[in-house]
Amino acid sequence: MSNFNVAIDGPAGSGKSTIAKKIAQIFNLYYLDSGALYRAFGYYLKKKNFDLNNENDIINALKTFNVKIINGDYYLFDEKLDFQIRTPEIGKAASIVAKNPFVREKVNEILRNIAKKHGVVIDGRDIGTVVLPDAEVKIFLTASIQERAERRYKELIGKGKNVKLEDILKDIEKRDKADSTRKIAPLKPADDAIIVDTTGKNIETVVKEIKNIILNKINLE
Ligand code: DC
Repeated sequence: MSNFNVAIDGPAGSGKSTIAKKIAQIFNLYYLDSGALYRAFGYYLKKKNFDLNNENDIINALKTFNVKIINGDYYLFDEKLDFQIRTPEIGKAASIVAKNPFVREKVNEILRNIAKKHGVVIDGRDIGTVVLPDAEVKIFLTASIQERAERRYKELIGKGKNVKLEDILKDIEKRDKADSTRKIAPLKPADDAIIVDTTGKNIETVVKEIKNIILNKINLE
């Protein structure tokens, strides 16, 4: 395993997770999806019938919340988390609970503990600004809102979901606003992040671009 860290931040639909996974493979780094942890917590609250907006419910749920990451898979206790945390409903729940400082502290602790042991690629919103401010490489991915909505739309249609492009567009707009205007750890590029606009580019092109950025930054022997 390599021993440097890469932060990949950006808004919903910018291609973070696909690209981060590929970068982790290329450089032999451990891939972590921070959004999956917020989603897992939102999912946990809903399962327990707790109120997402109630601070006491959140604090109580945090006491027992237990996510394990095994071979890149996320488990809530013994339940493997997959499609059930990828729904728009859980996306919204994640965005709500992500405003809470105690939830953020918990997620950050999980992520940092792993980053202490391995070189990591983490994708999220605040990885370069808050979680790993000393990461050797910080990338901020962007793409036009129209293109991000189209990507999400194709992904969901491909999974057999019955969705409308305009609904997804509105949803992304709302989520962008919520994520970038919240008081704690809002979505924004770190001062030393390199901004990569993926509009009109395919995945391979973006991966190549980021690979070159990393090779230029890291002195690989
Ligand atoms: O990347 P995603 O769609 O899986 O993230 C789900 C939500 O979690 C997103 O709306 C904002 C929140 N999130 C966050 O606040 N900070 C992160 N580092 C990652 C995700």
